[in-house]
Formats: sequence, structure tokens, C-alpha cells
Amino acid sequence: MSTVPHRRAARLPGPDAPPSFARARSKRAKVRAAGLDPDYWYPVEYDAALRPGTTLATRFWGHHIVVYRGTDGTLHALEDRCAHRQLKLSGGEVDGCRLTCTYHGWTYDGQGHVVHYAHDLFGRAQPEVRIPSYPVVSRHGLIWIFPGDPELAGQRRIPHIPEVTGARPWARLDASYTWHAHHSMIIDNVSDFTHAYLHRKYRPFWDARLTRHETRGDSVELAYDTFVGGGRFTSRFVDRSRVDTTGIELAFQYPYQRSDTGGSIKHWCFVLPMDRRTTRAFFLFYFDSLKIPGTRRQVPRVLMGPLMRLAGALAVKPLLRQDGVAVEAEQTGYEIHHAAPVVELNPAVGLFQDLTIRKWEEFLDRDRLRPRPSPIALADGRVPADAHR
Ligand code: FES
Ligand SMILES: [Fe+2]
Repeated sequence: MSTVPHRRAARLPGPDAPPSFARARSKRAKVRAAGLDPDYWYPVEYDAALRPGTTLATRFWGHHIVVYRGTDGTLHALEDRCAHRQLKLSGGEVDGCRLTCTYHGWTYDGQGHVVHYAHDLFGRAQPEVRIPSYPVVSRHGLIWIFPGDPELAGQRRIPHIPEVTGARPWARLDASYTWHAHHSMIIDNVSDFTHAYLHRKYRPFWDARLTRHETRGDSVELAYDTFVGGGRFTSRFVDRSRVDTTGIELAFQYPYQRSDTGGSIKHWCFVLPMDRRTTRAFFLFYFDSLKIPGTRRQVPRVLMGPLMRLAGALAVKPLLRQDGVAVEAEQTGYEIHHAAPVVELNPAVGLFQDLTIRKWEEFLDRDRLRPRPSPIALADGRVPADAHR
């Protein structure tokens, strides 16, 4: 979304660029340089958007990854780099469960092995060449990759969301944006309700008072007393006689974010940290029921889908676009004024940032003990056999 003038003007790295993680001294500079631990599952695209026989070029923290769906319907994820001359494999051709590079026709299987060379081998035996592959699954209508150590993929869980998968799924609304902002700015934004002013036209929450904030393990939990869903559109559909809309609970359940209003209105925000200043955010909102405006009758289930699309267009997406404008402007401002003194009033924001910094340090420490750095650490600037700091 092109929203902020000059946001591409500040280039990284440069003499006036914000400091790297290793050089950062303040908490803010540290968190704005931190990556997200690749040893978690991250969504890259909606399942329906990747048709059989097509590829998706994506990135995780600067590392290029191709996800493709075989003509047989199977999903695969490889480093987006041909081992021969480093062309992007995402420009290649899918056949069955294989991907062929467009230049000399080297064909890769789903594990990244070159299984066929479309040219003479000059009398040699077929070389054994392999590029990294990544675990990939489809869940909640999204394609998820595990960019870190594949050995850990089975231990990590994609959040379980029974409300959208059961026999009577809740009404669901999806929205996704690629914003030119660091992922921590988005996590700050979605959980810090001091920015009600930005949404004064839509009033999704109003007059928020933080009543709880604490870190438990790898999760920051917080709650506000607030008036939820006061906008012209949403207020007509929310049944306040049944749903308590006077408070909201949120969590930064690393690396994901979620909220719950009265057990009936919930959302998840999943972020894909593409690089230091680019993040794709996937929002999944779900509602157990909505009422017909002017009555206390619930909207029939068959009308929920069309109503969700209307709500998305009229209420939710305009709101999220305001957030996008704000976080992109914050990124621009940070790149110019990263040395300015920090003024932060909401204590919950400090907890999000502490958690992001701690998890990134833990990843770097783990990675330093590995015989070879992960591609993510390399993409972040780590030099093999060198320290991170
Ligand atoms: S560059 Fe890919 S096959 Fe040669
Ligand atoms: Fe917002």
C-alpha cells in the first residue's frame, strides 16, 4: 500500500541508518532491529491464492523462499535460489511435485534435490546437488512455513482455533496487508489502545484503561476496560445484551497476537517479518454471532458470509488501513529520528519489546552453537565463524 510519501527515501544501511541489533543500545533501537525467531510457523499466503502449478516468491527476514503448489496439489517450500547460477526458482516451472529452473532446466524435488538436468553432463555422473527446503502446511486457510531448524518444526504448534474449524464455524473475516514497517511496530500497534484517536471516525475501542499487563513465559497478557465496537456499523450488529463489550483481553503470544472480547468477538494477527522494514500481517477476525440491526434476533448463518464481506469493506479494512498508514509513517520517522529520546507511556509496550528482544537473543545464542549459521542468521548479516555482536 503506497501511503507515506518519501518512505523509500531512507536507505539501509547508511551512515545515518538506525543501528543493527548488535550495536543498538536503547530498548527501542534493539527491538526495531530484532528479527522474529525462525523456529516458529509463519503464514506466507492464503491457501486459495496459490493455485496448483504456481509459485510464490516470499521472504523471511531477508531470506528468499519459494513456495509452490505442485500440479498434484502438494505444497513445497525451498530456498528461492537455483544452485547453478542463483536465479530465483520462483520464476521456474512446476510439473507434478517438481520445480524446474527457467535457465538451464535443472529440476528440483520438494526436498530441494536436483533430480534432473536438462542438458549434457559432459561425461560426468549426475551431481548430487541440494538446496534447503522448509516444512510447509496449510492451516486456517493459510499456507505456513517453518523457516528455522526443520528438526524443531514438529515441536512448535500453529495456534489451534477451534471456533473457525468446528462443525458450526463462527463468522470469519480475513484481511492481509504488506506494510513497510518493522514487525514490532505492528505488534505495538495492535495491542496498544492508546491510539484510539487514530480511529476516532470508526471507534473500534474507546476510552481504554489498562487493567492488567504481565509477561508469562513467552507471552505478554494484558486487558483493558474499554468500550468495544462503538462504530456506526459495528454497534448495530453487536448484541450488547449478550456480549460483554466493556472490556477486552489481548496477548502477544510470541510470535502471534490475539484478542478476545466477551468470549464472542476474537481475532488473531499473524505477522511475517519479510525484512527489517517490511512485514506482511494476516488478520483473522471471528464472531460467534451478530444480531439483525434494530432487533435482538441473530443474523442467520447463511447471511454471515455476505455480512462479513460488507463489514470488512465498511468497517474493518478502513480501520486497518489507518493502522497501516500510521505504522508506515512510524517506520519512516524512526529511520530519520532513531536517535531521538524515547517517550513511551503504555507499560505494556515495554513488555512486548522485552519479549521480542529476549526471543531474538535466544535464537542468536542457539544459532551460534550450531555448526553452521541458519540462512536466516546469514540473511541478518551474520558472517560464518564470526560472533553476532
Ligand atoms: S541457473 Fe538454474 S539451471 Fe542454470
Ligand atoms: Fe488500530
